[in-house]
Amino acid sequence: MDSIFILTGAGISAESGLGTFRDKGGLWTRYDLSRVATPEGFRADPALVHDFYNMRRKNCLDAAPNAAHAALARLERDHPGEVTLVTQNVDDLHERAGSTGVIHMHGELRRALCAACGHRWPAPERMLPEEACPSCGRPATRPDIVWFGEMPYRMDEILERLARATLFVVIGSSGEVYPAAGFVDEAAAQGIPTLEINLEPSGRRGLFDRGLYGPATEVVPRWVAESLRD
Ligand code: APR
Repeated sequence: MDSIFILTGAGISAESGLGTFRDKGGLWTRYDLSRVATPEGFRADPALVHDFYNMRRKNCLDAAPNAAHAALARLERDHPGEVTLVTQNVDDLHERAGSTGVIHMHGELRRALCAACGHRWPAPERMLPEEACPSCGRPATRPDIVWFGEMPYRMDEILERLARATLFVVIGSSGEVYPAAGFVDEAAAQGIPTLEINLEPSGRRGLFDRGLYGPATEVVPRWVAESLRD
C-alpha cells in the first residue's frame, strides 16, 4: 500500500501570516531563542516566555489556513493509501484546514502543560506565570511546546511510520533543526524516494531525489493534484 510521509515546517504557514524562524525578519532574528525557547530561559524569566507564546498564540488565532494546508487535507481525504502528517509547527492550521491525526512533534500553542505533574489542558489565549495547574494546583504551568534541548514528542511513532513510507516529503523547512532534519537521511538510507517542497532549495537539497520550489500555496496544491491523478 502507498504510504506518504509528510513533514512540514514554518514555511507552510508563512503565507498565513505566521512568518518563519530563520528567514529575513524571522522570529529568531528578532528574539533571543535562548531566553524564550529553552527550559533555562523559562526558569530565569517565565513572564517573558509566556508573553512570547501569548503573542504567537494570538497571531495563530488571528490567522487562517492557506491553500497548502487545504491541499494536504485533501490528499489525506482522497489518497487511497496512507498519509502521515508530521509537523514541526505549533500552530493548528493543519487541523483547521481539515487534516486529522496530525503529529505535532514540537508541541502545540493551543495546549498548556504543568511542569510539575505533566498534566495537559487547553491553553487560555493568555497564559500567566502564576496560573495554577488545574490538576495539582501548583503554579508551574508552561506552554506545551518542545524547547531547544528537550526531546520532541512521539518519536517512536514517527520513526515507525517513516519506516513504512513509500514516499518521504518535506514542505517548508530549512532542515536546520534535529532530529526532524535527519529524517531525510533515514528515508534515503531505507531507499524511500524523497521530495523537498520549499520556497527555495534548502541547505539539505542535495539529500533529496527531487525538489519543487516556489510559494507553498502554489506548489503544494499542484503537487497534490499531480499525486492524486497518478
Ligand atoms: N512557501 C514555502 N516555503 C517557504 C515559504 C513559503 N511561502 N516561506 C519560507 N519558506 C521556507 C524557507 O525558505 C525556509 O527554508 O521555509 C523554511 C523555514 O525554515 P525555518 O524558519 O528554519 O523553519 P523550520 O524549518 O520549520 O524550523 C524548524 O526550528 O525554531 C525551531 O522549533 C522551531 O519547529 C521549528 C524548527
